Amino acid sequence: MHKDQLWEEANAFLRMYYQELHLSSDQLANRLAVIKQQIAATGIYEHTYEELSYGAKVAWRNSNRCIGRLFWNRLEVIDARDVQTSQDVFHYLYEHIKNAGNKGKIKPLITIFPPERPYRQQPVKIWNHQLLRYAGYETENGIIGDPASLEFTKECKRLGWQGEGTPHDLLPLVIQVNNEPPQWWKLPKDIVIEVNIRHPETDIFAGRLVKWYGVPIISDMRLEIGGINYIAAPFNGWYMGTEIGARNLADKDRYNLLPIVAKQLGLNTEHASTLWKDTSLVELNRAVLESFKRAGVSIVDHHTAAKQFQVFEETEQKQGREVTGKWSWLIPPLSPAATHVFHKPYNNTTKKPNYFYQPPYWK
Ligand code: ARG
Repeated sequence: MHKDQLWEEANAFLRMYYQELHLSSDQLANRLAVIKQQIAATGIYEHTYEELSYGAKVAWRNSNRCIGRLFWNRLEVIDARDVQTSQDVFHYLYEHIKNAGNKGKIKPLITIFPPERPYRQQPVKIWNHQLLRYAGYETENGIIGDPASLEFTKECKRLGWQGEGTPHDLLPLVIQVNNEPPQWWKLPKDIVIEVNIRHPETDIFAGRLVKWYGVPIISDMRLEIGGINYIAAPFNGWYMGTEIGARNLADKDRYNLLPIVAKQLGLNTEHASTLWKDTSLVELNRAVLESFKRAGVSIVDHHTAAKQFQVFEETEQKQGREVTGKWSWLIPPLSPAATHVFHKPYNNTTKKPNYFYQPPYWK
């Protein structure tokens, strides 16, 4: 980023920060003077922990695709800007997985590694899409595991990792420091929460083991605060049931379980008009929610999540802030019109700070 532009972005962020936290304009002027000097001298500036922490929270608040934003202010922020080695990074990720899981009472958490620096190598890159994710393998008998992971699984194998070939092999953490060749690390089983999915009444998977991991930790997005790019900043909340039950386990190009669920429920799958897909979806989603509940792992159903989002919209309005949103993402994939979100227009303008997509490093 050009110095002038960085200065503009820093200004906008610091003004927002000082205003929202009711800090004095004298303090703001002092802080901006320091930042201006740092940018002039080095082409970059350094956030205080408080700025970093507030920036990460507001970035969540500004995430147009996320229905879970009511809790933006409760994000816990770990400052990992001091790491040097791949081992250090692994250690922070290990702690992140363990502490976010919190024995089932999931905590929204972000770990922030060093930002992008002008004219220098990138200290830390995380190659994984999520810290926890199942591998996918192409075999003679079709795909085993998560089809969404086929390519990355191949990459991990190229790096020397080997899975067991089950439908639920956790992929290794792939960490690259200082543009050296990446290193992979096996995840210790004891810190990874997984939930066996079982339907309360029916054997909907015909005896097969179906499970999912407890904590979705997105690790491939760039966090931008005041013009500074944190390209490695894995974050998590807890799952909304439909992400697993109506997408990961149901999508044709994912675990594709609807046909078997329908069969087990004794539904007629000859005609679309029997709504066998719909019935199966509902039962699969009940199974996901009840299984997480039984296991004591945090999860939210889509009706409750929508209600919470409505509270978020109200509190934001009271603060005089417009809630931006991406309608096609905010509506749940199950019974969307049964939530208020479906019936409202949302303005999909991008505010900063925010989390942004970035291309995968391994492609
Ligand atoms: N939809 C993604 C998945 O199923 C997770 C995205 C983040 N979700 C969340 N509840 N924070 O793995």
